[in-house]
Amino acid sequence: MTAAMTKTTGFNIQHAVSDDPVILMCPPDFFNVDYVINPWMNAEPVDMDKARRQWDALHQTLTRQLGVSVVLLEPVVGLPDLVFTANAAFVHGQKAVVSHFKHPERQGETAVFARWFAAHGYDVILSRVDGADVFFEGAGDALTYCNGTDRQVFAGYKTRTDIRSHELVSQHCGLPVASLELVSDHFYHIDVCLCPTDTGHLLYAPSAFDEYGCRVIEQTVPHDRLIPVVQEEARKFACNAISVFDAVVFNQGSTELVDDMRTKGLYPIELDLSEFIKSGGSAKCLTLRLV
Ligand code: ARG
Repeated sequence: MTAAMTKTTGFNIQHAVSDDPVILMCPPDFFNVDYVINPWMNAEPVDMDKARRQWDALHQTLTRQLGVSVVLLEPVVGLPDLVFTANAAFVHGQKAVVSHFKHPERQGETAVFARWFAAHGYDVILSRVDGADVFFEGAGDALTYCNGTDRQVFAGYKTRTDIRSHELVSQHCGLPVASLELVSDHFYHIDVCLCPTDTGHLLYAPSAFDEYGCRVIEQTVPHDRLIPVVQEEARKFACNAISVFDAVVFNQGSTELVDDMRTKGLYPIELDLSEFIKSGGSAKCLTLRLV
């Protein structure tokens, strides 16, 4: 692994020198729960100092422990959810299919993300089909699963993302997409209930999908690579995990999953992300894998 490194400026996808992981994060300077757009956002107020400490711990785990290069997006006043960079776009190579948020409260983020991707050498694809905007919430609702050289996208729809956006991902990125309906209000983005890992494993919460969705997942991923997560642990955002090689970083408190991962040769790293869960997000939501 490479030495710990934080890049704040100068990252350009065309100049990325190796395949070492690069992740986009946004410091939580203006993070808060200022509105309610998902069922998690009704909890007690956010402790801002604690949120900052939790974000710093995540940042340090990625950079110092796992050798990830973290690129920082500048926070913007009035956009408290900008911290959830997973929702910026679906990224494939130098293509970025940028989000068009369902809720007006988050729609101001699109211009910020689109500008960032354009300035960093990406082909920016807006979420428009037949000349009309369609809702799409980036890597919150579209995740690439790789098994050897096979790649495919699992994409969620209904709660936040319009299924018509899936064809944009497939056409522009040349990837097959399995569209899965999200059936539970609490699992409103696919990245809170499904997580492909760099090792070809897939964590998923069966209760977040219908019978068809579960069947698609189970028929796509080899049996020994599938990691079903029990409802109670999925509700602790266990599936909202960041995979870096064989390490998997996620919110603390999911002992069954931790044991299961260890028996499968994975290296779980648990962090306290309680303040972000009050907004309906956790480890993975706070990051966007670029490389
Ligand atoms: N409060 C944010 C929202 O409701 C949380 C976003 C979490 N992001 C994610 N990728 N699941 O949109």
